[in-house]
Amino acid sequence: MRPKVYITRRIPDGIIARIEKECEVSMWPETDIPVPREVLEREIIDADGIFCLLTESVDKELIAKAQQLKVISNMAVGYNNIDIGAAKEKGIIVTNTPGVLTDTTADLTFALMMAAARRIVESSDYLRKGNWKTWSPMQLTGQDIFGATLGIIGMGRIGEAVAKRASGFDMNLLYYNRSQKPYLEKKMNMKFVGLDTLLKESDFVCILTPYTRETKNLIGYKELLLMKKTSILINTARGGIVNEEDLCRALKEGEIWAAGLDVFELEPISPENPLLTLPNVVTLPHIGSASINTRMKMAELAADNLLLALNNKTPLYFVD
Ligand code: DGY
Repeated sequence: MRPKVYITRRIPDGIIARIEKECEVSMWPETDIPVPREVLEREIIDADGIFCLLTESVDKELIAKAQQLKVISNMAVGYNNIDIGAAKEKGIIVTNTPGVLTDTTADLTFALMMAAARRIVESSDYLRKGNWKTWSPMQLTGQDIFGATLGIIGMGRIGEAVAKRASGFDMNLLYYNRSQKPYLEKKMNMKFVGLDTLLKESDFVCILTPYTRETKNLIGYKELLLMKKTSILINTARGGIVNEEDLCRALKEGEIWAAGLDVFELEPISPENPLLTLPNVVTLPHIGSASINTRMKMAELAADNLLLALNNKTPLYFVD
């Protein structure tokens, strides 16, 4: 019998066709509306495989409903939306899509650094609103990127790719990570430091660490106070790593200079969120990996992982 697969969002036709060659496929047909929980609860009961996105909470209760699930294939590198322990207990393989999105996410991280430092969005709004009356010496002045110190929290693939870009801007590099990476330190001329030192010495702090119990609220008011008043915080990892209320307070009080955020604790962010009222915050709707090529590669890789697991072969990437 062909395995049953549920796809939780409309994905490109070519990839659906690939999965359909080997499986009975049902799919939530919308592109911009997430699958309702009750639909997912129904579909998971007799599915052999699930192809899902980071918008789906694949928690213990949902996993408990699955009667024959072999694989949860997440089309993302992060898998904080999935209860790994509950999946493991039932012998379900969880797969993800690292590697293919590294450079695209690093590009976006750098774009946010530059946009926040040079007040790109604020300046563009200023012009469009008709406020630009003359050139003036200190008008819309920002912070320099070249030669500044960049502190990277989380030195995985994306951290390394951001460091590579930063070295082209003659930046001094600091990093904080669970494990030290002597090889990278040599290669990128980078220094391993404690979190407090990184926060105190960096002009830019980039968060690129996975979202786990240990990193939840890693950056709160106390940590933000350690940062320079001229420094900029960038988060392209997961929203919950930074305490948003504390960040808003630190920005309002001038404890840090600006922030660039691609991710939020609750996504989509509410239009009422006070962060959206601050001119020194650049906000994006979680588009770190959003290039056409990369999103296609992520979907292909998620399909590869799914099909390999359903054929009792080792997926290209799985969560250990
Ligand atoms: C991921 O893959 O985890 C990103 O957040 C979305 O590409």
